[in-house]
Amino acid sequence: MENIIETLNAAGQQELAARLESLSGDARKNLERDILSQDWEELKALYAEKSSASLEDNVSSNLKPMPFKIAVDDLRYDFWKETGEILLGKGQVAAFLVAGGQGSRLGFDGPKGMFDIGLPSHKSLFQLQAERLLNLSARVEHPIPWCIMTSPLNHEATVNFFTEHNFFGYARENIRFFEQGTICALDPEGKAVVDDNGRLALVPDGNGGCFRALSQSGTLAWLVEKGVQYVFLYSVDNALCRICDPAFIGALAAEGRSLSASKVVHKAGAQEKVGIFALQNNKPGVVEYSDLPENYRDMTNPDGSLTFDGGNIAIHLFKIAGLRKLQTSRLPWHTARKTVCGIEKCWKFEQFLFDAFPLLGTMMPFGVLREEEFSPVKNAEGNDSPKTAREMIGRLHREWLRKAHVAIDPKKLYEISPTISYAGEGLKQSVFDREIGRNILEFDEE
Ligand code: UTP
Repeated sequence: MENIIETLNAAGQQELAARLESLSGDARKNLERDILSQDWEELKALYAEKSSASLEDNVSSNLKPMPFKIAVDDLRYDFWKETGEILLGKGQVAAFLVAGGQGSRLGFDGPKGMFDIGLPSHKSLFQLQAERLLNLSARVEHPIPWCIMTSPLNHEATVNFFTEHNFFGYARENIRFFEQGTICALDPEGKAVVDDNGRLALVPDGNGGCFRALSQSGTLAWLVEKGVQYVFLYSVDNALCRICDPAFIGALAAEGRSLSASKVVHKAGAQEKVGIFALQNNKPGVVEYSDLPENYRDMTNPDGSLTFDGGNIAIHLFKIAGLRKLQTSRLPWHTARKTVCGIEKCWKFEQFLFDAFPLLGTMMPFGVLREEEFSPVKNAEGNDSPKTAREMIGRLHREWLRKAHVAIDPKKLYEISPTISYAGEGLKQSVFDREIGRNILEFDEE
């Protein structure tokens, strides 16, 4: 106890120390547990650094574009795909879902993965992901370990949802749930914020907390023990994500040099609000939309195309050696000033996973087509919403059928269950005739 008080006092948190000393019973135990989960020296240093600096996280004026090519146009694509399937078949690949976010823009009360985007099947995002993984693991004849990072705010609800749905057919021993860390919000004077229940205002430490959480939860060791070499990391809300895409895995294996790879799309236009891949001081990294100076944002090549054109869609692949390196690296903290527990302009800190790339020093970009692989569900309406995701799935699956020479109604949209096709393979007229109304569902454009 004395130690805690000393630590708090040394960190400038005398009020919190006094509050703790005034408590007894469960209230004291709970607050003590919250306090022990935090690194107070780090919080003190963070407040000192951030409150004395400009809020803008520094973007180097020395940015260079990071060139990338659309992979499917490359003659080696089929070779990469086969290589990836072999690696998957040897059990060397795992999926890593970061699902600890609060999904505040969508406004859904629950973990985002439970959300039904309104497809005719009414499958949740979690179910779509599980079925894609199951399809792929059946094809390569090896289970794919699935790591799911939650936060203390949604862990129980996530695990309950999976349990109620019998893990969507996934073998329980191949899934591992674990929680990311939290960090205490500070008031404008740098004091820890305490909520109405007398608990610390702890918020998830950002998706960049995934590297620490993977290691501290023992999940990295679990993967190493299984012989995993490649970890496919993705966000919960991309309705089109080709989880553990074999071509992506094979391409990184064939390239040999880099510790990580990222999928990249051409930006839809200068104003599109996505982070871009760029070389900063000759190291690969992502610059957030809001941090990209206008002269870079609008810069064009002689042919009129955008110079900084590589959009980040949050699909990454890490070699185990890269993850090992990151478990001890310190990612930078980003800050936001938000109202917390009714106190305006509090300091909230978070880490971003894309800050891993400059630390690793190498990253292989892998260009993909957005209409095939990127449809994030961020907002309740408008751009990047459930409606845009349904439509993109409907159009893509119609295209798969068209390419397979299936007679379809070109005005309709189609939903093909991932249990029968992972990325358009295995479709033909007889399959369509058998599955329509079952695993292939027709719906109307809205
Ligand atoms: P976003 O940055 O879109 O955040 O997360 P969000 O929490 O889902 O949504 P908003 O901003 O509140 O509307 C991108 C991915 O990172 C995960 C999310 O779950 C999502 O898969 N994430 C985000 C975490 O795992 N932990 C975090 O602390 C934040």
